[in-house]
Amino acid sequence: MNNVSQAAQIINNGGVVAFPTETVYGLGADATNDLAVQQIYTLKGRPSFNPLIIHVANLDTALQYGIFNQSAMTLAHRFWPGPLTLVVPLRQQGIISKHVTAGLNTIAIRCPSHPVTLELLRLCHHPVAAPSANRSGYVSPTKYEHVKDEFGDGVFILPGDQSSVGLESTIIDCCADTICMLRPGTITQHDIEACLGVTVSEKTTVEVINAPGQLKSHYAPKHPMRLNVHEVQMSEALLCFGECKLHANHMLNLSPDGNLDEAAANLFDYMRALDKVASVKGIAVTPIPNIGIGVAINERLARAAARD
Ligand code: TXA
Ligand code: MG
Repeated sequence: MNNVSQAAQIINNGGVVAFPTETVYGLGADATNDLAVQQIYTLKGRPSFNPLIIHVANLDTALQYGIFNQSAMTLAHRFWPGPLTLVVPLRQQGIISKHVTAGLNTIAIRCPSHPVTLELLRLCHHPVAAPSANRSGYVSPTKYEHVKDEFGDGVFILPGDQSSVGLESTIIDCCADTICMLRPGTITQHDIEACLGVTVSEKTTVEVINAPGQLKSHYAPKHPMRLNVHEVQMSEALLCFGECKLHANHMLNLSPDGNLDEAAANLFDYMRALDKVASVKGIAVTPIPNIGIGVAINERLARAAARD
């Protein structure tokens, strides 16, 4: 049996598996199995009010679980498989575990593009509920080793490459007539607006009562982060972008060429790496242009720097 079949068998038998996707590694279980889904919350130390995304291999499967309006259909046709999650009304109570939806009457659905993830999903009998495969509140994992660091041998990890996108999926709420962006990602607000031909509103963390997982502090390294710096303090590590004149004993450049896609792919890996250095007391980050995927990078950095 190959790794993917083994992972699918574990999920079909009610177990939990970590697996690669193009965004970040996920920690997955059968979305229809209460006990299996509960294990995810326990392993992550995740608050039970924070709902999970279900992952499906194609749109037809998604339509069995969610009610797609015209906007949701258009977005799914345009961006799936890929790094986009759609929040839509739940089609029927009682099939998907209430722990997945945290009791809401809406559901977040994503069809990922990573070939290994898709193969896994095709072999699973039900949708796979999966948050990012990190302990709740810590930085999301983009490499096999990151997941290993988080869970050791406690979880079966399906091996894979480094996540090519490196940031979690864009989340779009399609439940009402007004389309809302709940989480920015590599598919930008502009991409969504260009696809639908309408204005997309952004919900702030406070407004997002239907996404209680959007807590302010998230993705946080153990060490404090300072953003948009123009100088580095003693015992701070430096995370920089593009041409950089600053210097620190421990420094990593997200993209020396100033490429935002490359910076996104490196972000969580480099945050984890600098956070691990014993002598480092904080992480200073130089400004990153707030355009395109830079918006999502800056949103993750702002959360990482928030301490409440
Ligand atoms: O790229 C991704 O989306 C990754 C990979 C593994 O697919 N998953 C991921 O899951 O980032 P997680 O649990 O770390 O983030 C899911 C977010 C949470 O902020 C949660 O609150 C929100 O989705 N969410 C889930 N169901 C929702 C719903 N019904 N309404 C609004 N927000 C929801
Ligand atoms: Mg997460």
